[in-house]
Amino acid sequence: MQSRAGQLKRAGRTIAFVPTMGFLHEGHLSLMRIGRERADTLVASIFVNPTQFAPGEDFEAYPRDMQRDLAMARSVGVDIVFTPDDTMMYAQGFQTYVSLEELPRGLCGQSRPIFFRGVATVVAKLFNIVGPDIAVFGEKDFQQLAVIRRMVKDLNFGIEIVGGPTVREADGLAMSSRNAYLRPEERPAALSLHDALRQSQAMVRAGERRADAIIAAAERHIASFAVNTIDYIAIADPDTLEDMASVDRPARMALAVKVGATRLIDNMALGR
Ligand code: PAJ
Repeated sequence: MQSRAGQLKRAGRTIAFVPTMGFLHEGHLSLMRIGRERADTLVASIFVNPTQFAPGEDFEAYPRDMQRDLAMARSVGVDIVFTPDDTMMYAQGFQTYVSLEELPRGLCGQSRPIFFRGVATVVAKLFNIVGPDIAVFGEKDFQQLAVIRRMVKDLNFGIEIVGGPTVREADGLAMSSRNAYLRPEERPAALSLHDALRQSQAMVRAGERRADAIIAAAERHIASFAVNTIDYIAIADPDTLEDMASVDRPARMALAVKVGATRLIDNMALGR
């Protein structure tokens, strides 16, 4: 991959890159379509990255379907799909990690303390291998997008990071490879994440500014489903991800909920 990317660049071709963990859905494809428009060559990667899963998380169970993924990637014009395996990415003796100081502390970092170190490390490695001019990430993983933007700035990667809007099912559920884990009877509970975010947007539009009041209403709605366990609900500054007490400027509401055994996340802009 690295030498192929070098050839492409020497031939003057620009490269757009979309990293994924596979089991592709329309959310991933939307990012690939953005990349397709923005460069001569479109590269996607499929790699379920072991270093971003803690022991006891779903690394082994994570859904995989390479043949279907390759057909889907081809259908949106991906030129190269990079599919390394664990031992290629993490050879014996591997010991160099990328970790950020502040951004990974809150939100998902609270319950997944090693997650962003794994993400930043694998994305840094993929950037060095693929050498893209631009890379596209989903706003669905809002904290991840902020971490990648910061890492690229801090480590001078010189790659333009583009954020793509969250793609949802017709009923509002944010698309996720992990939705495959949901049991049919858990679906209404899973929808409460999106409903709570919409309800919060409506509260802000109606004049409510107090973050605690908005969060409390969202909590009540989500907790009204017995299978739900709330991990966090936060209203944060879109850049620093620090908690905001008042929605008196653009804010991001973000939440994580365990629906039965499945941990789901979602987020939305408030106050604009
Ligand atoms: P994965 O969960 O496969 O997601 C790959 C990319 O698709 C991410 O940028 C994610 O934000 C985006 N995405 C997921 N669901 C989306 C949706 N409904 N709408 C729009 N975009 C969506 O995120 C990862 O993989 C990994 O952490 C990775 C960055 C590949 C590093 O291992």
